Amino acid sequence: MILVQVAQGDVGAASDDVVALGLTGTAAAPRLLASAQPAAVSTAAANFVAQFQPDPAAGQVHRLPLPGQRPSTVLLLGLGDESPDAFRVAGVALGRAVAEVADDQRVVSAIDAATPAKSRALAEGLVLGGYDFTLASKATDRLRVVELAGRVDAVAVRAGDDAADAAGWARDLGNTPANVLTPLNLGEVASAQLSAAGCTVTVHVTDWLTANGFGGVLAVGGGADNAPCLIEATYRPSATNKLPGKKKPPTIVLVGKGITFDSGGLNLKPPAAMRMMHTDMTGGAAVLGAIQYCAMQELPVNVIALVPAAENAVSGRSMRPSDVITQYGGRTTEIGNTDAEGRLVLADALAYAVKRYAPDAVIDLATLTGAMKVALGLGMGGYFANDDALAAQLDRAAVNSGEQLWRLPLEHAYQSMLDSAIADSRNDPGNPGAITAALFLQPFVGKTAWAHLDIAGPARATEAGEVVSRGATGYGVRLLASYLDLVAAAAGH
Ligand code: BES
Ligand code: MN
Ligand code: ZN
Repeated sequence: MILVQVAQGDVGAASDDVVALGLTGTAAAPRLLASAQPAAVSTAAANFVAQFQPDPAAGQVHRLPLPGQRPSTVLLLGLGDESPDAFRVAGVALGRAVAEVADDQRVVSAIDAATPAKSRALAEGLVLGGYDFTLASKATDRLRVVELAGRVDAVAVRAGDDAADAAGWARDLGNTPANVLTPLNLGEVASAQLSAAGCTVTVHVTDWLTANGFGGVLAVGGGADNAPCLIEATYRPSATNKLPGKKKPPTIVLVGKGITFDSGGLNLKPPAAMRMMHTDMTGGAAVLGAIQYCAMQELPVNVIALVPAAENAVSGRSMRPSDVITQYGGRTTEIGNTDAEGRLVLADALAYAVKRYAPDAVIDLATLTGAMKVALGLGMGGYFANDDALAAQLDRAAVNSGEQLWRLPLEHAYQSMLDSAIADSRNDPGNPGAITAALFLQPFVGKTAWAHLDIAGPARATEAGEVVSRGATGYGVRLLASYLDLVAAAAGH
């Protein structure tokens, strides 16, 4: 884990062991990024650059040892086109390089991140790059401090740090196996972590779900020995942080799919498709991370995170293909395929969100369909929205966070595929599967501004990438953080 600190004092002081400098320009003509470099270091670095022409592409790290000197190592960090995205990638690369540095060595970055966006991205990258997950018995998590001694915007650094911390928590939740992270355990972990951050958390269990008609959550969770629940976390800005005048802060509800393991149910998945299904709660993890970010940043927005959590298991109590269930609010669903379980728990939570909070917008995140992976691959999420202003905000948030999104249509022409002979709709309407899944959800939000993000692709990675770690990626946390920053700004923060 990496702790980012904004440094006071000079770079290249006698106590610095490792100093990071920025590298920019082109592959043919790399050059050092102008920054407050200590003279001894910059001369050595300039000579190195002139002699070896190190690649300045974002993510490249070049090690320049200075034996017998202090600092003893210079890390030349490629900053590519010096965009915020490039700073984020460079930050990740530095964060990963720091893992190789001995424990007693002091690490200082002399890189100037001259705008808030660059500062935020650099801090985000550092913290994300320091992420590691293991349950190995001998492993120890090292805490490393990286001091930012270049020109940085301290407020933006803190925001980036908070966003990446929240994404790291979401990664942890996603990477935790399903025998450990049961629905109720997810509720306990969320309660502990978010209460400490200043949120109110309630975990609604079976009796409450039954009394209130959460037929989708109960049907999906009914086959498992691990009971289902609905996690409800609320963040309200404190009185001192309310908006000027008497303006009421906007209310945003975030809903995240919390399937702690998706076996498929009686429509059992084949082994290869089942193997990673402990990550089927990463939509839920993303909304929990996002509300933590809001609390840490004290945004002037009311935020509610709802996670319908259940294990889709096989037993004599499992729901059956051909069952008809009654969702929260009364709509009925014919179960055509027990593996289309995500939309059943989301439908309950969306209907509840709208009825209970009358929010300005509701956004759900879910690893909902394999079809979305086919459509857009692993590099981006797909989304649907019934409101163009909300869509525009999400598009901007995607650019700001570097978590890519692409909009797909809520195409009315496919609506009849959802028709059931005996219920309001069926849960297995067929292809185009990502679109028909979104159409299934749409009636549950009524006229409320709504976006549905299908994150089945980017929620997990088979290997580490420029920014993501292997396994659960925490996708959506930084996107939602950026979105909620925009909501706060629009509200006059
Ligand atoms: N959790 C899966 C979707 C998924 C697939 C996520 C691959 C990540 C990687 C979801 O519950 C599911 O099984 N969807 C089915 C729906 C179908 C039965 C209508 C699918 O996409 O095949
Ligand atoms: Mn499924
Ligand atoms: Zn699923």
